[in-house]
Amino acid sequence: MGPLSVRPCTLHITWKELLLTALLFIFWNPPTTAQVTIEAQPIEISEGKDVLLLVHNLPQNPTGYIWYKGHIMESHNYFTSYVIDTEMIIFGSAYSGRETVYSNASLLIQNVTQKDTGSYTIQIIKRGDSTKGVTGHFTLYLETPKPSINSSNLNPREATETVISSGDPDTQNASYLWWINGQSLPISLRLQLSENNRNLVLFGVTKYTTGPYECEMKSPVISSRSDPVTLNLIYDPHDPSIFSPFTNYRSGENLFLSCFADFNPPAEYTWTINEKFLQSGQELSIPKITTKHSRICGCSARNSVTDSERSTLQRIKVSRKWIPASLAIGF
Ligand SMILES: *[C@@H]1O[C@H](CO)[C@@H](O)[C@H](O)[C@H]1NC(C)=O
Ligand SMILES: *[C@@H]1O[C@H](CO)[C@@H](O)[C@H](O)[C@H]1NC(C)=O
Ligand SMILES: *[C@@H]1O[C@H](CO)[C@@H](O)[C@H](O)[C@H]1NC(C)=O
Ligand SMILES: *[C@@H]1O[C@H](CO)[C@@H](O)[C@H](O)[C@H]1NC(C)=O
Repeated sequence: MGPLSVRPCTLHITWKELLLTALLFIFWNPPTTAQVTIEAQPIEISEGKDVLLLVHNLPQNPTGYIWYKGHIMESHNYFTSYVIDTEMIIFGSAYSGRETVYSNASLLIQNVTQKDTGSYTIQIIKRGDSTKGVTGHFTLYLETPKPSINSSNLNPREATETVISSGDPDTQNASYLWWINGQSLPISLRLQLSENNRNLVLFGVTKYTTGPYECEMKSPVISSRSDPVTLNLIYDPHDPSIFSPFTNYRSGENLFLSCFADFNPPAEYTWTINEKFLQSGQELSIPKITTKHSRICGCSARNSVTDSERSTLQRIKVSRKWIPASLAIGF
């Protein structure tokens, strides 16, 4: 490959030219006739709430407005109209009793339901205009209600309890899909779905079936997924273990012990010496022990949720201070 022989094509544009182009562009932009636009207030609409459909860019001097459900301007889907001169409101066959049209053409829909979703058309009749006037369209969507997961017990004990999780809200004709750990439910005798899949029964929770669980609600119009929920498995299976760097101590040395029990939630620990309460906490340290400490240390681990407690004992031997033999002989 030889060197590039093509001269680079350069354009010399100054900022002045750029500005001029921009200005010309603005001036030459043909004026658009302002379109009737409809804005919903609030923007996010949920079932049972009210929504106001605000009409912007109304043409000058209208004689009246007609609101329709849907795209087609027919008498059967017209629900309300407003005649400006007489300030008269007329109700059509689609009127449900929850729609109010204002003199500025805006439409208030109260107590919105799933049935109110879909498109809306406003027809604005201009004075002395023999055409059908101008129209504006709007499509109303409801915020999808998010299903939530509840459980008969969010802190089940291992194997012993049956946990039922259910997806809300109870939307008509909705079906529910479940996920565990982001995967669809495995076929298992320990899992059973009931009542159009709203409830999930777990027979004997194990650490493999604590979740997270997610539930998706699907209806003919909407579909939405819950936040994940994880069960907090409670277990208190074993006796606690006591860890000690040594088992034999000499008088004057520092004693250090620690205790561990595999509990969920984490165990609460207490220490005893000769069955007498000494202190709480996972670790026990006694500086400069004496032979009177040559006793039985006990660690108790308590599960605050199940209120069960398990204990382990350990004998600690403390012998007299070691004296070098040569010195002992000298006595
Ligand atoms: C129209 O009238 C309603 C009701 O009085 C009002 O809430 C709204 O702000 C008005 N304005 C527009 C642009 O629709
Ligand atoms: C809203 O609609 C529901 C069902 O159509 C009805 O039970 C409720 O009473 C209505 N609420 C108001 C404030 O109109
Ligand atoms: C969740 O379920 C429990 C037990 O069935 C019930 O007591 C509780 O009120 C439920 N919570 C919610 C938010 O539905
Ligand atoms: C629910 O399903 C039944 C039977 O298929 C139907 O008649 C009814 O209109 C449906 N309801 C909704 C809200 O879609």
